[in-house]
Amino acid sequence: MKSTRYGIIIVCLVSLVLVGCGQSSQDRSDNNPSTENTIATRQALYVTHCAACHGAEGKGQFPDDPYGLDANDLVGAPPHDATGHTWHHPDAALVQIIQNGRSQPGVYPMPAFGDKLTQGEILAILDYLKTWWTPEQVVAQATASAQYTPSVP
Ligand code: HEC
Repeated sequence: MKSTRYGIIIVCLVSLVLVGCGQSSQDRSDNNPSTENTIATRQALYVTHCAACHGAEGKGQFPDDPYGLDANDLVGAPPHDATGHTWHHPDAALVQIIQNGRSQPGVYPMPAFGDKLTQGEILAILDYLKTWWTPEQVVAQATASAQYTPSVP
């Protein structure tokens, strides 16, 4: 009886250690040792660099009509939340858009952040955007990311 109880305790301890390890391996702060990828850092980076155009809650530049034309006949910065299109792109494609920016007719330009943000900071911002997605969107995008670039975590 006593040994069964010890066995259960050991199983619990081992599970705790495994759960702890799992969480720390998901934390990608090692991509950029100077910036800790914490929830506070992710939000601060987003607010500093992205929120002015994409909105504090990721609802886009013109939340009432995110894909409509404004007075200049241009579409504004799109939403990044669950109503947006961002989650359709794998991580590697999102990192590229953010590093290089994007400019196309009929849409306001997306500035390039390649010289302002490290890859670790961009991944931290993506982690923040993902908090706005549904669990299904998170899984679908993670699957696409894994298939697109198997070597990138
Ligand atoms: C000056 C305004 C502005 C700022 C600041 C800005 N963006 Fe954008 N962003 C845009 C616009 C406008 C587009 C649409 C460009 C296009 O589709 O050609 C866009 C598009 C994007 C897209 C593509 C979305 C999709 O579904 O295809 C991503 C991802 C993105 N931005 C992320 C970011 C992140 C992350 C930041 C902060 C580091 C940021 N943007 C800062 C204006 C901005």
